[in-house]
Formats: sequence, C-alpha cells, structure tokens
Amino acid sequence: MVPMLLAQISDLHIKPPGRLAYDKVDTAAFLRAAVASLLQQNPMPVAILATGDLVDGGHAEEYAHLQEILSPLGLPCYVVAGNHDERHGLRTAFDGPGFEYLNQTGEFLQYAVDLGALRLLVLDTVVPGEGRGQLCEQRLRWLDERLAEDRRPTLVAMHHPPFASGIEYMDHFGLENADAFEAVISHHPHVERILCGHLHRSMQCRVGGAVASVCPSTAHQVALDLRPGATGAFVMEPPGYQLHHWHSGRLVTHTCPVGDFAGPFPFG
Ligand SMILES: [Fe+2]
Ligand SMILES: [Fe+2]
Repeated sequence: MVPMLLAQISDLHIKPPGRLAYDKVDTAAFLRAAVASLLQQNPMPVAILATGDLVDGGHAEEYAHLQEILSPLGLPCYVVAGNHDERHGLRTAFDGPGFEYLNQTGEFLQYAVDLGALRLLVLDTVVPGEGRGQLCEQRLRWLDERLAEDRRPTLVAMHHPPFASGIEYMDHFGLENADAFEAVISHHPHVERILCGHLHRSMQCRVGGAVASVCPSTAHQVALDLRPGATGAFVMEPPGYQLHHWHSGRLVTHTCPVGDFAGPFPFG
C-alpha cells in the first residue's frame, strides 16, 4: 500500500495586506511561516487541505492576499468554507488551474477528491452571516450518497467540528445538528477521520465511530478555558498545522508547531 501524506492548515484568517486581525495578529506573517515550515517537510505532502476561515472578512482582496502567500507551495490545495469565508468570493478567487474541483459544487461548497488510497469528501457547514454551523438535509444527503458509492477509507473535511468542545464560548458557535451528522457517519464505518477547524486548537473526539480531529490555527489559538460562562479569548500559543500520514493501512495524525525550536539533537 503506497504511503500518502496530506497537510492540513486551518483558520488562517488572512486580512488585506498591512491589516492585523483583532488589531493584534499578523495572520499573513503567521501563514508565511507555516508555508516555509511545510516547504521544509521531507517527504513533502501531496496536497494541502485548508479547513476554513481562510480569510477574516470574506473580501476579494483578502482571497488575493491568501493566494499570493500560498503560491510558493505549488501543491494542490483543497479549500473548505468557514464562517469567516464567503462562498461566492471564495469560488471566484479560486477559479483557476488546480481548483477545477470547485466546478462540482452547486449552492454549497461540497466536493469529492480522489487521493488514491483515500477519498476526501469536503462539506460546507456555513450559515451565511453567522458564526454557527449547520448541515441541512440536502448537504447530509449528499454526504450519505457519496459515502455509499465508494468504500475506500474516507476523510470527511468540514469547518465546524461535530462535537461540543467544552469551551462554552466556542460551543455557542458550534455545529447545530451534529446528531444528524453523527447518524450518517455511524452508517459508514469506512470514515477514517473527520478533519475540522474552527476551534483554533488541537482536539480529538469520537463521533459516529470515527475520530474527529481539529487542527490548530496557523495564527492565534482559542484560550483553553473550560469554566462554565467563561469569556471567549484568544492566546498566542504556538501556531501549527497537521500532517496526516496514511501508511500500513492506518492514518496517523501529527501536530506540527511552527516556530524556532532548538534541536533536533541525537539521543546518544
Ligand atoms: Fe477561525
Ligand atoms: Fe470558524
């Protein structure tokens, strides 16, 4: 079985050039650092999965800025819509070579990708103008049909995670009908992983028999505060991305912090 490496980046929140997110976070500089780190990987991933909140305000100049920062990667990039994205703007911006898969999409930005040993199904959880996520009957039916037509190990990608994180502030903006989603997943044991963003920190949870995994943000992280009623906040913990490594018939997920760290040092 041929090994395969897929990189996941999430919650890039790119602003127009020269602008900071929340007047504090240089999200473009953070993404440049993540791209530089990805380019150091050996072996290189075969593709990038970007699980939403690609830009901060859904504006065309933000998507243009995003494309400029991602271009050195030279890899196929599969984009997922997040609550900070705007479907039309996203589709218009990525209307070029390498993004033909977006032609499959209708009202919702949902599509299937053949990754060889694995299959990737991208879902659209966006409710325009709102922070929360939703998968209406139409979107869930599409998922159920795609899962039924191919029994290969499958990655399901979506911005809003299908579980409550316990960080109450974020759970107010969670996936509304996670139960209906879980019911679909539970009928398809070949779902290997559910790859999400939105929560701006690494988390894992079993959903419908599969592992749901959240990728950290390439920029700011959500503060880990599990107290009921805690105010939402972000912290500048190390940013990162994930590498999903398919080998020996299993998918192993590595979380890779981005920054300057000492080492590697030999053990002996
Ligand atoms: Fe986000
Ligand atoms: Fe989000």
